[in-house]
Amino acid sequence: MNLAVQQMVERPEGAREFLLTDKHFATIAKLVREEAGINLTEAKRDLVYSRLVKRLRRHALTDFGTYLDLVSSPAGEMERRELISAITTNVTNFYREPHHFEHLERAVMPELAARMMKGEPVRMWSAGCSDGREPYTMACTVLKAFPEVARYNFRILASDIDHNSLAKAKEGRYSNEMVDKAPAAIRERYFRRLGDVSEPVQQVRDLIAFRYLNLLHEWPFKQKFDVIFCRNVLIYFDQELQSRLFTRFCSVLKPGGYLYIGHSERIAGPATSALRQVAVTSYKHITGGIR
Ligand SMILES: C[S@@+](CC[C@H](N)C(=O)[O-])C[C@H]1O[C@@H](n2cnc3c(N)ncnc32)[C@H](O)[C@@H]1O
Repeated sequence: MNLAVQQMVERPEGAREFLLTDKHFATIAKLVREEAGINLTEAKRDLVYSRLVKRLRRHALTDFGTYLDLVSSPAGEMERRELISAITTNVTNFYREPHHFEHLERAVMPELAARMMKGEPVRMWSAGCSDGREPYTMACTVLKAFPEVARYNFRILASDIDHNSLAKAKEGRYSNEMVDKAPAAIRERYFRRLGDVSEPVQQVRDLIAFRYLNLLHEWPFKQKFDVIFCRNVLIYFDQELQSRLFTRFCSVLKPGGYLYIGHSERIAGPATSALRQVAVTSYKHITGGIR
C-alpha cells in the first residue's frame, strides 16, 4: 500500500485527508508570492489546505507532492491559474464601502462630466474587480450622476488576476440577494430581474471593459486614469510590494485624479507625498508628484 493510501485508510477521526507538509506549504507560498504577490503567512495554512484540497480531488490526486509536481511542470500552466484562482480571496459586494461612491458621485463626477462635455476622454479603473460588483457599482454611480455619459469618451477598465472571477464579471448575473445591496432606485433603473437572478442592463455593461491583468506584470495602458479603485487587494501583499504598487498607481493617475483604497489599507512609501487624503480612504493625486 503506498503512503497516501495508507494515510487515508488509517486516518483517525478528525484527521486530515491529505498531508500538507512544511515543505509543501513553503513551495505553495513561494509560488503564490511570485505569481500573484499574495503573502501567505503561516496563519494561512488551514486556508491553503481547504482551498487546494478541492484541486487535488478534481485531479484524483492522493497527495500534495504530486499536485505540486503537476503545478510546476510545463504542462501545469492551466493548473497554476486554477491554484491562483483558488487562493485569491474574492469577497466583494455591490456598494461596498458606500462612502466611496457618494464621494465619486458628488465630489468627482461634476468635474468629470464637464470635462467630457468639452471633449476630453475620461477613464476609470477597478483594479482587482473580483466578480464585477465593484465596477458595475462604479458604472451605476457614473450613470446616476451623468445619464448622458454614453455619448462621450468614457470607459471603465475592470481587471483581475482570477480568470474564474473575471468570467463571472463578464457574465454579470447575480443572485437577487446580492443585488439587494444596491439602493432600490438603482436596482429598478439599472438591473433586470430574471427569476432568482438579476443582471445589469446593457447601458451599464457598455461602460465597462473586463480584462485579465496581473498587478505584478506590465500595465499596457495608453491613457492615464481619472479615477482608480483598488480596494481590498493590496492588503494581501507585503508592505514593500504595497509601496511599489502605490507608486505605480500614481504613475498612471492623471494629476488631480482620485485613488480609492480599502478600509483597512494605508498609503505607504514614496506615494504618500503625491496623494492628499480628501475623504475616508480617498486620495487625490497632487501635482508635483512623488518626491
Ligand atoms: C477581496 S477582492 C476585492 C474586490 C473589490 N475590489 C472589492 O473591494 O470589493 C481582491 C481581488 O484582488 C484580486 N487580486 C489578487 N492579487 C492580484 C494581482 N496580483 N493582480 C490582480 N488582481 C489580484 C483577487 O483575485 C480578488 O478578486
